Amino acid sequence: MNPLYGRDFLKLLDYTQEELLFLLDLAEQLKKEKKAGVPHNTLGSKNIALIFEKTSTRTRCAFEVAARDLGMGSTYLDPTVSQIGKKESIADTARVLAGMFDAIEYRGFGQEIVDELAEYADIPVINGLTNDYHPTQILADFLTIREHFGTLKNIKLVYMGDACYNMGNSLMVGCAKLGMRFTVCAPRQFYPKQELIDTCLAIAAETGAVLEFTEDPVEGVKDADVIYTDIWVSMGEPVESWETRVKLFIPYQVNAALMEAAGEKAVFMHCLPSFHDLKTTMGKELGERYGFPDGLEVTDEVFESPRSLVFQEAENRLHTIKAVMKAVLDPDCEVKRL
Ligand code: CP
Ligand code: NVA
Repeated sequence: MNPLYGRDFLKLLDYTQEELLFLLDLAEQLKKEKKAGVPHNTLGSKNIALIFEKTSTRTRCAFEVAARDLGMGSTYLDPTVSQIGKKESIADTARVLAGMFDAIEYRGFGQEIVDELAEYADIPVINGLTNDYHPTQILADFLTIREHFGTLKNIKLVYMGDACYNMGNSLMVGCAKLGMRFTVCAPRQFYPKQELIDTCLAIAAETGAVLEFTEDPVEGVKDADVIYTDIWVSMGEPVESWETRVKLFIPYQVNAALMEAAGEKAVFMHCLPSFHDLKTTMGKELGERYGFPDGLEVTDEVFESPRSLVFQEAENRLHTIKAVMKAVLDPDCEVKRL
């Protein structure tokens, strides 16, 4: 039987290097099949519940399209129109949904919520983003890096900005697991928690990964293969923190000078959405308020440049999320060499 069958996908720490590579290989296969028009709708009797306590474009669409491609049904649950949290606890919701569905996706706040769902639901639970981790995003990022460079081995990924939230934490774990070079480039108070750093250093000692930490943007990006950033205030963080954060993070903005300092081979990645111009209500308000018409965490010039892989990365959310769903729901799932 496929060893991932029936498992939860809550954080990358729960998966071995071999298992993560299996998911990337499976995603690559499913992507090729989709592009070639080869149907893979083998999970026709299955259903997944999609709980979103925070907004989403990519993750929700990836789960819904992946479910349809696999022949599955999906039900979107918006907490504003369901009983979750207000009239029904997570533990009760988990047991209700487990009686009707084959898997649950959860996007929301603390990691303890998705952990509790998984504890009470005897079906696989997949983390679609918490404050602490965003594991399905990392699979898409690594598939994109492998497509571009042909390998993950010795790839140096530099994470700029707010490194102590879901993206920084998950990228550090993923790079440690897959033996990559990971540099946190951030103000010291935004480094990941020391406990997680220690866990990742122990993993790195086994896998050959290299983890580095610096407050100096130019030093940090030297010889980088991937420059990665995320918005400076995430969903669930106080909007009032924008002012202090903009001042702290502006030296870490990914702009043409920083890409230049990184060297020719470096590409730009971002989980999205991004404040790279003034074409959104929030981007406009922030850009105008703080005086950054060319973008906040990344300039429009870099975002729109040929070195930016952001839309390939966004598409890969579909193929990697599909791989996770298939791996945990299909006992016979294996990677076919196409
Ligand atoms: N990257 C990501 O998770 O995007 P959404 O918030 O649109 O799902
Ligand atoms: N750090 C961001 C990621 C969005 C995909 C957030 O949590 O809002």
